[in-house]
Amino acid sequence: MAVERTLSILKPDATKRNLTGAINKVFEDAGLRIVAQKRVRLTQDQAGAFYAEHKARPFYGELVSYMISEPVVVQILEGENAVLKHRDVMGATDPAQAAEGTVRKLYALSKGENSVHGSDSAESAAREIGFFFAQSEIPG
Ligand code: CMP
Repeated sequence: MAVERTLSILKPDATKRNLTGAINKVFEDAGLRIVAQKRVRLTQDQAGAFYAEHKARPFYGELVSYMISEPVVVQILEGENAVLKHRDVMGATDPAQAAEGTVRKLYALSKGENSVHGSDSAESAAREIGFFFAQSEIPG
C-alpha cells in the first residue's frame, strides 16, 4: 500500500463545539498524520467554488451558507491508504447510517452538519489540497 495524502475539513459544527482536538485524536489514532493544518473563515466564493459539483443539488445554498457560518480547519492528512482510511474513520455522510466509533457517529448532528469532509479519491485529494494550500504550505 502506498503512502497517500488527503484533504480534510473540520466543519463549522465541529469548530463551534470545540471538537478540533477530539476529532484530530480519532484521525491520529487511526494512523493518519496531520502534516498541514490551518483554521480559516471561508468566503462565500471559496465555499461555492469548493462545492461547485453540488451546484444543482437542492441543498447547495444551505451547504454554502453553513460552510461560511463559523471557521473551519483545513488539513492535509498523510498515511498508508490515507484517502480510504480517512473516509472509513469519518463514517457515512448521514450520521444515522455511520458506524460505531466513526467521527460522524460520535459527533455529527445531521447530513448537512456532519462535522467533517474528506476527499473521495486520490485525484480529488490533489485538487482539494491545491484549492486550500499554497505550495509553500505543503510539506515536501
Ligand atoms: P461533504 O463530504 O462535505 O460533501 C458534500 C456535502 O453536502 C456533504 O458532505 C454534506 O455535508 C452535504 N450534504 C449531502 N447531502 C445533504 C443533504 N441531503 N442535505 C444537506 N446537506 C447535504
